[in-house]
Amino acid sequence: MAEFSLPKNSRIGKGKHFASPGAKKPRVFKVYRWNPEDGQNPRVDTYEVDTAACGPMVLDALLKIKNEIDPTLAFRRSCREGICGSCAMNIDGVNTLACTRAIEDCSKSEVPIYPLPHMEVIKDLVPDLTHFFAQYASIKPWLRTQSATPASGERLQSKEDRAKLDGLYECILCACCSTSCPSYWWNGERYLGPAILLQAYRWIADSRDEDTGQRLDELEDPFKLYRCHTIMNCARTCPKGLNPAKAISEIKKLMLQRRV
Ligand code: SF4
Ligand code: SF4
Ligand code: FES
Repeated sequence: MAEFSLPKNSRIGKGKHFASPGAKKPRVFKVYRWNPEDGQNPRVDTYEVDTAACGPMVLDALLKIKNEIDPTLAFRRSCREGICGSCAMNIDGVNTLACTRAIEDCSKSEVPIYPLPHMEVIKDLVPDLTHFFAQYASIKPWLRTQSATPASGERLQSKEDRAKLDGLYECILCACCSTSCPSYWWNGERYLGPAILLQAYRWIADSRDEDTGQRLDELEDPFKLYRCHTIMNCARTCPKGLNPAKAISEIKKLMLQRRV
């Protein structure tokens, strides 16, 4: 799985913070730190947290660190229930959501926490997702139609057609899959990656969308689509249990069908 590697000259373990002597259930977290403004190399800080005195998820431990030990630690979070996708990071060697990853389920005695791999880092655990969301915008992720809007103002869908979006609409664009994909690491400038291709298929599969041909034309490109080599890291890591590789293979099938 996608582990983060530090440059050789990193200052590892310079910052150590211990739980108070009365701590009932201490657990150690090794957290990647980098601040572009202090001119220092990245380092890993060690925080011992009394997990008996905080919530059960890794995000709860990070919030405890930020609130009680080190307010300079930077990370994103919003919903705290696996819906917004903003707390995605590499925890215990796996890309996942800090708010749904239970501390108890982390296997390493000292839990490593890094930003999503192979992304530019803005600060600490905050990756730069500018390019990722520009790629999302490039697939025009909305209902594209040519026909007149029905008098009711609504474009209806049968239950069966709606069911075809199951496994697609649940994607929260956390980027865990794309940043675990070796093809995306090496060709991310041009390869759209699993998250964006799953989103592209979400609109292709929507019975109400009337731009399927154009959408496929826009993906017919040696880099945008065909860099997927079915390595399946994406499906293994998705914290929502989705299978982007399957969505990619469905797009490829449609490409083939329209050629014959
Ligand atoms: S497919 Fe899963 S891992 Fe990828 S962006 Fe969507 S929710 Fe996140
Ligand atoms: S199956 Fe395709 S998209 Fe998923 S990790 Fe592998 S190469 Fe990347
Ligand atoms: S805080 Fe929203 S998904 Fe974790």
